[in-house]
This record gives sequence, structure tokens and C-alpha cells, in this order.
Amino acid sequence: MTSRIIGIVSGKGGVGKTVTTINLGLALHQLGENVTIVDADTTVANLGLQIGICSFSTTLQDVLKGTDNINKAVYTHPMGLKIIPSSISLESINADLSELKPALNDLDGLVLIDSPPGLSADALSVLDACDEVIIISTPELQTMANALKVARVALDMEKLVLGIIVNRYNGGKYELNHTEITAMCDAPVLSKIPEDINVKRSLFEKTPIISYSPYSGPSIEFQKLACDLAGQQYRPPKNLRMKKIITGIKTMMG
Ligand SMILES: Nc1ncnc2c1ncn2[C@@H]1O[C@H](COP(=O)(O)OP(=O)(O)O)[C@@H](O)[C@H]1O
Ligand SMILES: [Mg+2]
Repeated sequence: MTSRIIGIVSGKGGVGKTVTTINLGLALHQLGENVTIVDADTTVANLGLQIGICSFSTTLQDVLKGTDNINKAVYTHPMGLKIIPSSISLESINADLSELKPALNDLDGLVLIDSPPGLSADALSVLDACDEVIIISTPELQTMANALKVARVALDMEKLVLGIIVNRYNGGKYELNHTEITAMCDAPVLSKIPEDINVKRSLFEKTPIISYSPYSGPSIEFQKLACDLAGQQYRPPKNLRMKKIITGIKTMMG
């Protein structure tokens, strides 16, 4: 039934997969897409935590064990986005993700999967469950090299690698620059999401950044990327330049 399953994957942890899954998912929902985000990073299940919901009666683990159908584990966030959370309990970290692929068959619409990092058995199960893959990396050589390894494996598994998102991009002297990144990657660079303190602030407030600070750099990038994925034309908000200046001033004031 599912029309499209996109894995949000990376070579290492802490690069922005969960932030991206939530914000891209919400931006797609706001564009009118039928979207569900799934927390498949079962050992570091923090998708629910990042949006302020941590207690669920049914989780992905119940679905993987065969106790419940996946549709019973779908929750609707107050902003309308559908999410399938993972349990944060310690016993739940040994979930068997090999059952993910058949479980997803019962979902419809667009599914974004927040994946475990690297190439562990769990990460490979998630890759196997996806039709398409978006790779997340920060602009450091080592992180990018690990990300590209995952991209190669995804290609070997005949997945469509949509491209790479470079997150926490500063354009600084000690980072890979755009030319270096494009030279390194076989896949297109989909987006460069700037490093922005508003991401941390939005996490503190347990509110997706596209809602917390809609005119910040990361929010604009997530919205543009959502339009690309949905095949819609991005239309900048009215007076974006002024709104960005105001956002910058507010950010500096703390
Ligand atoms: N664009 C960004 N600007 C600033 N901080 C960011 C940005 N993206 C992510 N972060 C920080 O990185 C941390 C890890 O992000 P997260 O999405 O949880 O990574 P992953 O899911 O890949 O482990 C977040 O808690 C946040 O503090
Ligand atoms: Mg995560």
C-alpha cells in the first residue's frame, strides 16, 4: 500500500537525522502530503523526546514483535504530523528490525524513517526496508567518508540514493567546502543546512524548528527540500529578507 519509503541515514550518529526526519516530515505534511515518520533508531530512540512525547501505549517494538499492527502505533502530533515512535525503555533496544520491511507494507503515503547510523545489522534492515535514501552528514572529511560508505551500500542494495544533506554547515575554514563535497560525492547535494543555535533552542522547547523559528536558515532549507521531494515549487514567504533580519536580531538577543 505504501507509495514511498525514504530512509534518513548516516555514517555516524549525532549528525542530524532525527532533526531532519521531524522537520522534513512536518514540512511535507504542511504541503498537504500524507506523511508518517518512523523512529527506527531503536537503541537511541529520541524522535518522541525531541517533540515532547515520550509515553506511548504502542510502539514500533510491539509491531516488530508481531504483537500489534503498525497502524496501531501511529500517533498524531498536535501539528498534524503522524509519527510511529520507538520505546525508550532499556529492554526495547534489542528490537529485531528485520521485521520492519513487512510491517511497513500496511502503511500508506509517504514514510520517512529515522535510521540507526552506520552499517550495523539494524541499519542494513532499515536500508532494506526503504525504496529511497537520503544521506545526512556534517561537513567534516571523516564524517563524509563514512556517509559515502553508506551511500555505496545503499546503491549496491539497489536503493535510489536521492542525495546528501550537509547539516551544520558553516562554510568555515576547517570544513569541506561546496566544491570539495560535490567532488567527493557521487550523489547530488540536496541541501546545506546551516549550523544554527535555533535548532538547539527548538529542541529545548520540544518544538520542530520550522514551527519554532520558521524564517531561520535551517527552516527555509527544510521547506525547500520538502517542496523538491513533493514535486512542488518553493515559494518564499512574503518579505523573507526582512523576516530573516528580524530572526537574526532575535537570535542574537537570545
Ligand atoms: N543545523 C543544526 N544547527 C545546530 N545544531 C544542530 C543542527 N542539527 C543538529 N544539531 C544538534 O545536533 C544534535 C544531534 O542531532 P540529531 O538529529 O539528534 O542527530 P542524529 O539523529 O543523527 O543522532 C542535536 O541535538 C542538536 O543539538
Ligand atoms: Mg537520532
